[in-house]
Amino acid sequence: MSVKDTVLRLLEERKGTRVSGQWLARESGASRTAVWKAVRALVQEGYPVDASPNRGYCLASASDLLSAAGIGSRCRCLPPDRLFVYKELDSTNSVAKRLLADHREPPFLVTADAQTEGRGRMGRRFHSPSGSGIYMSLALRPAMDVSRSVLVTTAASVAVCRAIQEVLGLSCQIKWVNDIYLEGKKVCGILTEGMTSFETGSVDALIIGIGMNYRMPEESFPEELLGTAGALLDLPDFSTGPEHPSVSRNHLIAAVVDHLMALVDPLDSRNFMDEYRRRSLILGRDIRFTDASRRDRQAREGRVEAIDDSGALLIRTPEGEALLLNSGEITVRPV
Ligand code: BTN
Repeated sequence: MSVKDTVLRLLEERKGTRVSGQWLARESGASRTAVWKAVRALVQEGYPVDASPNRGYCLASASDLLSAAGIGSRCRCLPPDRLFVYKELDSTNSVAKRLLADHREPPFLVTADAQTEGRGRMGRRFHSPSGSGIYMSLALRPAMDVSRSVLVTTAASVAVCRAIQEVLGLSCQIKWVNDIYLEGKKVCGILTEGMTSFETGSVDALIIGIGMNYRMPEESFPEELLGTAGALLDLPDFSTGPEHPSVSRNHLIAAVVDHLMALVDPLDSRNFMDEYRRRSLILGRDIRFTDASRRDRQAREGRVEAIDDSGALLIRTPEGEALLLNSGEITVRPV
């Protein structure tokens, strides 16, 4: 790790607190001049570090630049050399796929401040401007076959909700399969992609792509999202502010990684399906749905009676027919 990265990690760990140059030099094993140069480089990169000659250095609590040091200083489950942090790229899921194709061994995380070709489910685009969102992909090599890998997506929704609750003190709900809602607005979407082995029929690697609206984008949301999208920090529930004044995107990313890895290994549905059902927006509600496994993809209506332990919906149609929906699209009908 370079002196600059080490100094950044130390400043991140004590964000909002002033530390002396002498202490930074001792902890990083570098000279005070090297520390001073590292801080100067960080300031040039845009980090709000207050550096006064005799009083030491302080990274402002409001600092919210993404960095491996910032994520690594809080993440318990992944070491810094497995955190790939970019300013901008096409899609974190696509980059994770390319790293896997280059034989990079999972688990690892790819995250970026902005995406130029962010992808959503069903071939949709995912709006990914700089400075306001969290775009992250966790690559895993779970020991499981394709059927169980569906559960990973379900686990990811619960992990995101737990992380948001822990870091921001907000209680989110889940719209099947894995959209996260707060105050009736979508604040997070998840796109899980798998690479399967044709020989064994098992999942070689999984990429769990998570896109979160952390704060409102500077130029707001595009018109087509205005009615449905919301941002975690700008919804009324957040009026009291975060539990910790120095929370940041780095902080939330680290919490999502830790909660997700704790749930996925071992993947025991009993651990999280009850919470998934408790947080469900659709249990007991009337919905319109299309079944992805049916050729006709015709929209139908019904009431969600249950969510089973594999994450499938048990739906009762108005004609009294009971159906199991494993994958597809749903919209909730107004009460
Ligand atoms: C959806 O709501 O349809 C799913 C959105 C998933 C977006 C995330 S952002 C990080 C990762 N990279 C992508 O290109 N997509 C996922």
